[in-house]
Amino acid sequence: MVGASNNAEQFDVCIIGAGAAGLMCAITAGRRGRSVLVVDHANKVGKKILMSGGGRCNFTNMYSAPENFLSANPHFCKSALSRYTPRDFIALVEQHEIPYHEKKLGQLFCDRSSKDIVRLLLAECEAAGVQVRTHSPVRIDQLGPPHHMTGPDGAIHCESLVIATGGYSIPRMGATGFGFDFARDLGLEIQPTRAALVPFVFEGRKLEQIRDLAGVSLDTYSEAGGAGFRENMLFTHQGLSGPAMLQTSSYWHPGEPVSIDLLPEIDLAEHLRELRRSRPKLSLKNALADLLPRRVAERWCELWLPDKPMAEVSDADIEQARQRLKPWRVWPAGTEGYRTAEVTIGGVDTGELSSRTMECRQQSGLFFIGEVVDVTGHLGGHNFQWAWASGHAAGEVI
Ligand code: FDA
Repeated sequence: MVGASNNAEQFDVCIIGAGAAGLMCAITAGRRGRSVLVVDHANKVGKKILMSGGGRCNFTNMYSAPENFLSANPHFCKSALSRYTPRDFIALVEQHEIPYHEKKLGQLFCDRSSKDIVRLLLAECEAAGVQVRTHSPVRIDQLGPPHHMTGPDGAIHCESLVIATGGYSIPRMGATGFGFDFARDLGLEIQPTRAALVPFVFEGRKLEQIRDLAGVSLDTYSEAGGAGFRENMLFTHQGLSGPAMLQTSSYWHPGEPVSIDLLPEIDLAEHLRELRRSRPKLSLKNALADLLPRRVAERWCELWLPDKPMAEVSDADIEQARQRLKPWRVWPAGTEGYRTAEVTIGGVDTGELSSRTMECRQQSGLFFIGEVVDVTGHLGGHNFQWAWASGHAAGEVI
């Protein structure tokens, strides 16, 4: 049903937001023969896809499962995830002959560029007869159905309206709080939002202690808020980053510590006692430098573990080393915030939506999909998997 009545363009479906979720939803509905319009205020579609995965888009994770998602209701994501799996998106990638590889832990990346994924989505939109418009901010005038909106070219009416405007992260890429504000204005419950998958920042003396280690990375087991991740950590000029810190940031709350086991494989106390017996002349600093990046070992000795031959290292010294390294407990001043965060935690409360269709319980014909919903994935392709799966769930019924 595309046409004009009362000078308004008419569509079965209008989707606000041409990101991962919006485009997948459009493709699914378009393939079912629905007339679909996707509008985005930005100058091009899928900007976050383009910048994702360091320009190679970690487009899914082979092992994506409900356990990889945070939400006030951890069960909500199960239905959509089970009906559109990583295998389904991989099939699409293979159908478009996009070369890809597994980097680690089931994380699938494009061999060439993220542009391949955007091209795939736009080609599928075209094949499904979907209209995609950029530079198109819209105002929602009245909810129906039919829903009434106004865009740059005039009035738009649609039977199903899908909000796929994502979260707050990276405002310079076109991110807005549109979906959250709209939902709030409707009286829907919003789970508190905060930046996640984001580096930690430190201030004052804490920052001075580590600032010149910037660039050093090491394997850790890091924990915050009861969740732990075995991943790499990176010292930065502002604090700490790397996958370990991004993952723990999703579970961290201001004022809480982050526990970082800098030697996850090693029983440090036992190892140092053994060295005291077998290599008494070895210095503590060199003993630690055999286990850690040398700059970290040197800094830890300067700050907390006075260097001395292993023969002189006491049980109390060994306990002190253990306490400073396994784990090293730190209290970040905060995070880098939405400026660099990969995702926004929180959003439209899942209790407001059907887990099967993503339709709003209070408002028929209105749907929320993707990051605007209170479902947030771990690092490693899970957030795109949620975007594909939730977009597909709505696309099947609109
Ligand atoms: P998304 O943000 O993709 O799309 C929302 C769209 O709505 C945008 O096009 C925006 O312009 C538009 N919009 C916003 N406000 C609007 C308004 N008022 N009117 C009209 N349009 C509006 N995930 C992953 O799984 N693997 C990865 O490798 C990465 N890497 C990564 C890197 C970086 C730097 C970031 C910031 C994020 C990632 N992510 C990721 C996360 C992933 O990008 C994110 O979870 C999905 O893009 C969310 O998809 P959505 O479609 O919900 O929102």
